[in-house]
Amino acid sequence: MSKNIESHLSEDREFKPSKEFSKQARVSSMAQYKRMHKESVERPDLFWAREARELHWDKKWGKVLEWKAPYAKWFVGGRTNVCVNCVDRHVTEGRGNKAAIIWEGEPGDKRTLTYKQLQREVCRFANVLESNGVKSKDRVLIYMPMVVEATVAMLACARIGAVHSIVFGGFSAESIKDRLDDSEAKVVITADGGWRRGGVVDLKANIDEALKKDKSVEKVIVLKRTENKVKMTKGRDVWWHEETAKVAATHKAKSFDSEHPLFILYTSGSTGKPKGILHTTGGYMVNTYATCKYIFDMKDDDVYWCTADVGWITGHSYITYGPMLNGVTQVMYEGAPNYPDFSRFWQIVEEYSVTIFYTAPTAIRAFIKAGDELVDKHDLSSLRLLGTVGEPINPEAWMWYYNKIGGGRCPIVDTWWQTETGAIMISPLPGCTPIKPGTATQPFFGIDAAILDEEGNECKANEGGRLVIRKPWPGMLRTIYKDKKRYRDTYWSDYPGMYTAGDGARRDRKGNFWIVGRLDDVLNVSGHRLGTAEVESALVSHDAVAEAAVVGRPHEIKGQAVCAFVTLKSGIEGTDELLKEVRNHVGKVIGAIAKPDDVYFTPVLPKTRSGKIMRRLLKELVATGKVTGNTTTLEDANVVKSLQKQVAKK
Ligand code: WTA
Repeated sequence: MSKNIESHLSEDREFKPSKEFSKQARVSSMAQYKRMHKESVERPDLFWAREARELHWDKKWGKVLEWKAPYAKWFVGGRTNVCVNCVDRHVTEGRGNKAAIIWEGEPGDKRTLTYKQLQREVCRFANVLESNGVKSKDRVLIYMPMVVEATVAMLACARIGAVHSIVFGGFSAESIKDRLDDSEAKVVITADGGWRRGGVVDLKANIDEALKKDKSVEKVIVLKRTENKVKMTKGRDVWWHEETAKVAATHKAKSFDSEHPLFILYTSGSTGKPKGILHTTGGYMVNTYATCKYIFDMKDDDVYWCTADVGWITGHSYITYGPMLNGVTQVMYEGAPNYPDFSRFWQIVEEYSVTIFYTAPTAIRAFIKAGDELVDKHDLSSLRLLGTVGEPINPEAWMWYYNKIGGGRCPIVDTWWQTETGAIMISPLPGCTPIKPGTATQPFFGIDAAILDEEGNECKANEGGRLVIRKPWPGMLRTIYKDKKRYRDTYWSDYPGMYTAGDGARRDRKGNFWIVGRLDDVLNVSGHRLGTAEVESALVSHDAVAEAAVVGRPHEIKGQAVCAFVTLKSGIEGTDELLKEVRNHVGKVIGAIAKPDDVYFTPVLPKTRSGKIMRRLLKELVATGKVTGNTTTLEDANVVKSLQKQVAKK
């Protein structure tokens, strides 16, 4: 990490947008950005009301913001329907025959849906949900591959005021079960499978397993995608195509209060149980709309492509909601970036003339490793803007992205935000902000970001501290589902009235924010958040395991890799066989992304005399192979020596 900071501190490459780009952008000078930012922070009511007025409301709001820290209400009293704004509005305003989604399946099958066609699909599915008993505020769990129907399902929920809760298709049956227990969903939407690296992911089997002891789910709606054989439980499971054939393609949408719940998305925290982040209607809608408009510079003739999965917040805000609110044409792709090889993305960019491309640093690093030849054979000249999200981007990856993919002509928006923030918080504006490899640069409109020390004082330039947001913003989470206390304790208790992001950062002399990474026990593996406590509890749920400690280590492609130190129950031998089994067990309990990269069996874990596992020491050990810090507080100093030998052997 410190090497990273050093290389950032000496980063002096800076790139300005071209005159042509600036000229057509909504914000074309830093003076204009500063003026607008100042107004938006001092008078959020004026700025956000202007943005909100560009969307459709059935009833106008009274006050823009009501803030009783840490509880915010935005567009108070207003009534709207997010789905109508994403879909119907474009049909009424003459964009009905414009392509909304250009979809490509992993096997190469293709489908294009215009806004008008999307409206019919969404209406049908809204009718299906209602005919299957779903009512306003009911929770609907979605566990689907990256197919058009995933977006249709989300929008249909929003249309009828049901609360969707998407579980990423890579998560296991047990992870689904935890989320079901918490959200008490009434209906599950899934598929007979999805394509991934040439194989079928058996989503339905995971749902069946998760539902074994469940009491809340009444219906499971199953989409046919792969012709994979699935077991249909009578009275509970119904087919998507059969249900949609029974209903009309029109549906009259009702309006909902600005603070009506829109979705719950579970994310990892520093304790074992994932948190159900709750987002609501009006503020989230306006915030995702405005960030797409200003940060991605979305225009009528753009072809936008975000490579995220709808199972993550990026897929919510920057596939389903933000882009559709802007009426843009977007590409959606089902499968893996390296299927059949690493040129797949560039083939898609070329074929559909993608103009705006949004991906993650981990993907960029994998492309670099795969070799330039795979990029060179494709024409990427349609691209005009690039984006990244999910973790700090290393300068080498940034430069490659800028030159090789962007041809040196596309601004890169490095966007910092979180599941909790709902929308992008810190990012360049592509028409004006000078960009540098490794910094997310400046706060978006309405965002009052700062870096504080432990006492709550603002850090000096280049000094590291904690990233906080000092004022509420429309897209912020409203609470942790069913756990207000955890909401207050996790985000609002470090500094009174301020949101703590959990990230460490510093600000340079020009006011650019450089995000260093998580300060809590959350790892960032390939841009995905993973709680070390979650992995530890998965490990100890294996019969042979007595105790486990999990830390991250730097990884060339993934950003961070998962390292597990495990003690076994007495009498059990740490064989290679068992090692494999323990790894797979974590995959089974959480999902493949959580499988430890390294597992070390050890007779004891390094602990303080009071019995606390010394993670700091393990972290240093896996990062550098050595332990230099103070070990005098250790209960048994010999542990370190033997662990050092084991790590060196790897
Ligand atoms: C990290 C993803 C540096 C950060 C949208 C944050 C980033 C966590 C960036 C949230 C970025 C995200 N630069 N770090 N541009 N974007 N992060 O909830 O540590 O999956 O707290 O949301 O990812 O992850 P989440």
